[in-house]
Amino acid sequence: MNKDSRIYIAGHRGLVGSAIHRELQRLGYTSILTRTRQELDLLDADAVYAFFAKEKPEYVFLAAAKVGGILANNTYPADFIRDNIILQTNIIDAAYKNDVARLLFLGSSCIYPKLAPQPMPESSLLTGPLEPTNRPYALAKIAGIEMCWSYNRQYGTKYLAAMPTNLYGPGDNYDLASSHVLPALIRKTAEAVRGNAPTVTVWGTGTPRRELLYSDDLAQACVFLMNLDEARYATLFTESDPPLINIGTGEDVTIRELAETVARALGYKGDLVFDATKPDGTPRKLMDVSRLHALGWHHTTTLEQGIEETWEQVSEQLLTRAE
Ligand SMILES: NC(=O)c1ccc[n+]([C@@H]2O[C@H](COP(=O)([O-])OP(=O)(O)OC[C@H]3O[C@@H](n4cnc5c(N)ncnc54)[C@H](OP(=O)(O)O)[C@@H]3O)[C@@H](O)[C@H]2O)c1
Repeated sequence: MNKDSRIYIAGHRGLVGSAIHRELQRLGYTSILTRTRQELDLLDADAVYAFFAKEKPEYVFLAAAKVGGILANNTYPADFIRDNIILQTNIIDAAYKNDVARLLFLGSSCIYPKLAPQPMPESSLLTGPLEPTNRPYALAKIAGIEMCWSYNRQYGTKYLAAMPTNLYGPGDNYDLASSHVLPALIRKTAEAVRGNAPTVTVWGTGTPRRELLYSDDLAQACVFLMNLDEARYATLFTESDPPLINIGTGEDVTIRELAETVARALGYKGDLVFDATKPDGTPRKLMDVSRLHALGWHHTTTLEQGIEETWEQVSEQLLTRAE
């Protein structure tokens, strides 16, 4: 990408899209295209084609998606499969019809089978049954990967699908009913700090292991991939394998270690209590990031730093929040 290349970020207000937006601005890109949902509903095919025809983006980060936790996925499975298939289809096809040079389609680790080997390599795609709770969402994302691959084969495009591990960062969802493990721990610990509570209760035994990537590091990885020189970029596209790359740290921690790190970052001096009557979830979920490492990208933010930076940005909001 040149500094004046026309770069469209679909979903620029989300956790992922906003981090990519900040990173591109930090690096001095001057022609970043963004549209809010009110300005451009990505489910509206005519509007998407008209936008691409008028603005002619050269590079596209596809970070728009209908996302949610287990509850939302279980309650609205039709919405999850429909909206994701429609919006990604609109964007990928409009990109092809308007000669977009490179497109990065964001998915997630839920595309891999429930019992994939750990760490999960890209080659485990479609080797076993998916986790049922978010199967409609995962299948929409798998369709998006297959669509990138098919367009590459039929039309000679170079569209890449990137699968990030669990992310965290300032733009995260801190609602306890629907948040992921780390924002939930930050929120609970913040409430304990505010209320001087002697204990924080953590769901489960504390033994499951999770991999976490700071959203700014993900954004750096996305820009790194988009900027790969032709020779290295070409290695990601073969006849025999989908154009797929995992993005993660390749390291995981136990929920106990995570809760302790949060407590340290927030200066919480009370005790952590593990409620083993609550479900643990899957014992381990770790990405195999050897493909990304071989290209030359490694994460730079440690979990401690990432949690401290996140806390700096959300502490006021969480410490003063009304019940
Ligand atoms: N968060 C994670 O831990 C994580 C981990 C791995 C992968 N990912 C992947 O990264 C991608 C983005 O996730 P995220 O966490 O950034 O989600 P997010 O915070 O919910 O952001 C999604 C964005 O898409 C926009 N959007 C959705 N439907 C739209 C529509 N019909 N028209 C226009 N805009 C629309 C949303 O707009 P509004 O702001 O108007 O709602 C929002 O800005 C997803 O593919 C997800 O699977 C996320």
